[in-house]
Amino acid sequence: MEKLMISGGRPLQGTVNISGAKNSAIALIPAAILAESEVILDNLPLLSDVAVYSEILEELGATVSWEGNQMRIDPSHIISLPMPNGPVKKLRASYYMMGALLGRFKEAVIGLPGGCNFEPRPIDQHIKGFEALGATVTNEHGSIHLHAKELKGAKIYLDVVSVGATINIMLAATRAKGSTIIENAAKEPEIIDVATLLNSMGASIKGAGTETIRIEGKSELRGCRHSIIPDRIQAGTYMIAAAATRGNVLIDNVIPKHLEALTAKLIEMGVGIEELDESIRVIGKEKYESIDVKALVYPGFATDLQSPMTSLLTQANGVSVLSDFVYSNRFKHVPELARMGAKIRVEGRSAIIEGHPLNAAKVKATDLRAGAALVIAGLTVSEGVTEVTGVEFIDRGYDHLVTNLRELGADVWRQND
Ligand code: EPZ
Repeated sequence: MEKLMISGGRPLQGTVNISGAKNSAIALIPAAILAESEVILDNLPLLSDVAVYSEILEELGATVSWEGNQMRIDPSHIISLPMPNGPVKKLRASYYMMGALLGRFKEAVIGLPGGCNFEPRPIDQHIKGFEALGATVTNEHGSIHLHAKELKGAKIYLDVVSVGATINIMLAATRAKGSTIIENAAKEPEIIDVATLLNSMGASIKGAGTETIRIEGKSELRGCRHSIIPDRIQAGTYMIAAAATRGNVLIDNVIPKHLEALTAKLIEMGVGIEELDESIRVIGKEKYESIDVKALVYPGFATDLQSPMTSLLTQANGVSVLSDFVYSNRFKHVPELARMGAKIRVEGRSAIIEGHPLNAAKVKATDLRAGAALVIAGLTVSEGVTEVTGVEFIDRGYDHLVTNLRELGADVWRQND
């Protein structure tokens, strides 16, 4: 296994180019099988989850070719195959194969998802949607079995605002007979990205990005070409790293609106921010004020940025309170930060963070965003070398991380553990 070695204390300087959104890519790839001809995806991030998804589609008989940041998927000869095991078990978001296969073939057998382990990740709302569309869904020996004689449009109210359930139901509903309405839908930009792809394939989806999405089912969809939106979580992670190291970094190829909750909180604590059309400059300052942060569904502060933000808040003067109202127990990074001298107390859904300098230590990434938090923490430490194990988690969400950080002046390298 590999580990990341970080000799910190150097302000990040320069420009970083943000890649396509991971959480779009791993929904767009399964969505492609709803078309009867080739789908081309541009601005694809080079991540392990994306590679796993191309393996899954090839297992079903799709032709997948990948050149640089472009993936070409020809699903015309795809067949319906049960997938109780194999690559579907390698990532959490393999659940999107349920909606895609149900939409295409009216049946699917998918092994329960794996992926991040910061807390149990239920899919009851996904199943509620599929059943409303006319599918029978059973859980047999750790695999979800779905079958529908026919998919009929329905009105579905999500009890929980769920990104995955919103996208998964949208996938199946595009091939259902009649119209579907999803109420209390999630509004994340990645949902709009998937709806944009599906509409380019000939679907009729209105309201993506609002709490009510209307889908007119179609009997057939065709291939198209689509460019994936920039990864707002990757961009936010670099913004936080620039602030934490008191650097000066231009984060390029972003949609600033997708980052407005983070930008507002950084400005509140005293970070310098310059917003341009497709980039954001972050200018670090010596002194930061402590603030309170609430991680909420979009457009609130992203839960995926709460652990990186925790590392930054250790650099503020005074006590900050960071609460996560999306996940109740996403604080596995806290004990690892404590090993670096952080003074953080977890109470229920909140982390109470006392500003305090960190020191180098050997720490372990437990999920991809916790890993990013530990890297940022290591970048603030000028004495000694911080070692971060669990790099395989970090590689799931951040392509070219070491290259990008080194180009920004960081002294970071990979080493066999
Ligand atoms: C997506 O996960 C992202 N993953 C997560 O990013 C992100 O943290 C999350 O959305 C919230 O923004 C992908 O897009 C692949 P949810 P998802 O369904 O769809 C509960 C990362 O770091 N819930 O919006 O699984 C659930 O327990 C990853 O890139 C149910 O109760 O999240 C959670 O508390 C981590 N029943 C809340 O809803 C369900 O059927 C939000 O989950 C589904 C979800």
